Amino acid sequence: MNNTILVTGGAGFIGSAVIRHLLNDHDCLVVNIDKLTYAGNQETLKNESVNSRYVFEQLDICDQASMVSVFNTYQPRAIMHLAAESHVDRSIDGPADFVQTNIVGTYHLLEVARQYLAACNLADRDERAEDRFRFHHISTDEVFGSLGDDGAFTESSPYQPNSPYSASKASSDHLVRAWNETFGLPVLLSNCSNNYGPYQYPEKLLPVIISKALSGDAIPVYGTGKNVRDWLYVDDHAKALVKILNEGEVGRSYNVGGNEERTNIDVVTTVCGILDRIEPSSDGKPYEALVQYVTDRPGHDHRYAIDASRISSELGWQPEESFESGMEKTVKWYLNNQQWINSVLAKNGKSGLRLGTKTKVTSAREK
Ligand SMILES: NC(=O)c1ccc[n+]([C@@H]2O[C@H](COP(=O)([O-])OP(=O)(O)OC[C@H]3O[C@@H](n4cnc5c(N)ncnc54)[C@H](O)[C@@H]3O)[C@@H](O)[C@H]2O)c1
Repeated sequence: MNNTILVTGGAGFIGSAVIRHLLNDHDCLVVNIDKLTYAGNQETLKNESVNSRYVFEQLDICDQASMVSVFNTYQPRAIMHLAAESHVDRSIDGPADFVQTNIVGTYHLLEVARQYLAACNLADRDERAEDRFRFHHISTDEVFGSLGDDGAFTESSPYQPNSPYSASKASSDHLVRAWNETFGLPVLLSNCSNNYGPYQYPEKLLPVIISKALSGDAIPVYGTGKNVRDWLYVDDHAKALVKILNEGEVGRSYNVGGNEERTNIDVVTTVCGILDRIEPSSDGKPYEALVQYVTDRPGHDHRYAIDASRISSELGWQPEESFESGMEKTVKWYLNNQQWINSVLAKNGKSGLRLGTKTKVTSAREK
């Protein structure tokens, strides 16, 4: 069988980790479909670009004709769909791109995949649709909304997205599910908690903490810093995704998490502690002294936690990295890869401005 896998958004943070894992540990051809928005960078896959099992197609997933052409050319056995606008703060300032890529783009891919599978004439070959092709949609735990102090999201938790980003991802999840129920498209869906690790775009929490600390600038922490997230090392997520694609039950969704709940301020102090040890500040002061609490993000969810027992019991997946070991690796990676950070920032220009501070529209009664 043709062992070609399309990966959308492969020049981004998680997509690039997936591509590295596929090329290193699986025998397949990988076709990376990426528009190269501000978040996508070819530098991220510099080593992989010379691999004969890797192909790059700079395309927009919303361009249906190009997607048809890619499917026809490569005849993939699967698509892993990660391309998205992914930054919550940006979705507050400009939701349009989120609706376009995350919802409309996913719709186009589903339609192209459905037509591609129909053209495969499986009945003639006595082949099951899911053995010929699978559509794996990669999503977030943010679609479930916010938790109180207890409990965890399961695969049957109700959807209650609160930000334009999570609402757009929730919409795409629903489309994917519907294309399975209505058209029989063999889909898999996964919802994962916060990822961290190498090659994350410098605007996200971890790289921000590291770069601000090293430059001696204030480290901004939203609100009281008590918002809780579950943290997963990106390579563990990549392995989970490929396992779900290959071994998951079609039509099912899987929650993926690290079982490592931490408040945002815990994350900041952990990273500062690692830096104090391996790259102490020139004035000898602990980096934590740079923490500055700033106005909270509008609609900031209080807590996310993942119950990952399904993927653990059914597919035998467990994260390999602990919070401490993963954070240590990540901090060291950023310290040793300043060149990557510079090239990414040079491409987009470093604004330094805070994003996502649009305030709520309040009614006269609320004022
Ligand atoms: N980062 C997390 O913690 C996290 C957690 C759970 C789920 N996810 C999901 O995983 C996926 C990847 O997240 P990430 O953090 O790697 O994002 P990212 O922003 O780092 O990368 C997104 C990639 O998609 C590409 N892209 C954007 N719009 C495109 C379009 N219209 N056509 C083609 N390519 C396009 C970008 O160029 C970029 O390379 C997203 O779907 C996100 O919702 C992320």
